[in-house]
Amino acid sequence: MKKDLVSIADLSKAEIYKLFDKARDLKDELKFEPRLPYLAGKTLALIFEKPSLRTRVTFEVAMHSMSGSATYLSQADIGLGKRESVADVARNLSLWINGISARTFSHKTVLELSTYSNVPVINALSDLEHPCQALADFLTIYDKLGRLEGVNLAWIGDGNNVCNSLMLGAAILGINMKIATPKDYEPKPMIVTQALNIAKKNKAKIIVTNEPVDAVKDSEFIYTDTWTSMGQETEADKRKAVFGKFQVNAKLLANAPRSYSIMHCLPAHRGEEITDEVLDGPHSIILNQAENRLHIQRAILATLLTS
Ligand code: CP
Ligand code: NVA
Repeated sequence: MKKDLVSIADLSKAEIYKLFDKARDLKDELKFEPRLPYLAGKTLALIFEKPSLRTRVTFEVAMHSMSGSATYLSQADIGLGKRESVADVARNLSLWINGISARTFSHKTVLELSTYSNVPVINALSDLEHPCQALADFLTIYDKLGRLEGVNLAWIGDGNNVCNSLMLGAAILGINMKIATPKDYEPKPMIVTQALNIAKKNKAKIIVTNEPVDAVKDSEFIYTDTWTSMGQETEADKRKAVFGKFQVNAKLLANAPRSYSIMHCLPAHRGEEITDEVLDGPHSIILNQAENRLHIQRAILATLLTS
């Protein structure tokens, strides 16, 4: 594997399946041992410019469960790029710690950390990608179906960071993905082009549309996320007005196949992109996704921090 996990496209299909195997092995081992020795003496720095529940807790618990430790550095603590340049933070942290997990506004910041640090850098969400989330999501689908190739996944809503990582990952893994967004909220053309190029080699179909009903038809997995990502708060009202037709609700799901699962990375904005009834309903696998954040990040850490 590469030194860093900045984009899900840093991984090959074989490397993704290897992470899935490792995630399962570690989960099984931890059933019998309260703590595993694999990251003894290692420390992960968590640089977070934005809030987090799942990502922060799962990285901290993952390190602890393998005998390592984590140190959380908020923007108020270190002033990344303000009190000190990103490059200097990366160079200094590399002297003391064994890995950096970074949640940033700009994707360029994660790239800069990766350029200037000697230790692995893991993207814990940027404005462009959320690779750890997408890996946990694919592991969730794999757990449920026992396969990934030829699976049909629909994305309903904003063409955002989570959508980008899912789209690239789907292309790598041979998953067909239909992305339905309002006009002007499609994923970035650069990422779509990258995904289409990867998809060709893996027999995956990636389709971008503005029609949510078309996207959910024939899709066994239906995924949505907030209409307003962190950092876009000033656009919230405008977005609410544009995204109405993209709510995942009973009416839209009347077009879904008989058997389908509902996915959401969380946090959810109940009553906006998804209704309570759907989020808490029998098709929802959102808590499996959240649980798998821990398992897949253990596998990522156990791999990157020991290479
Ligand atoms: N899904 C996710 O990354 O959640 P947090 O923002 O709470 O970390
Ligand atoms: N797209 C969301 C994901 C949160 C986990 C955001 O960036 O805020």
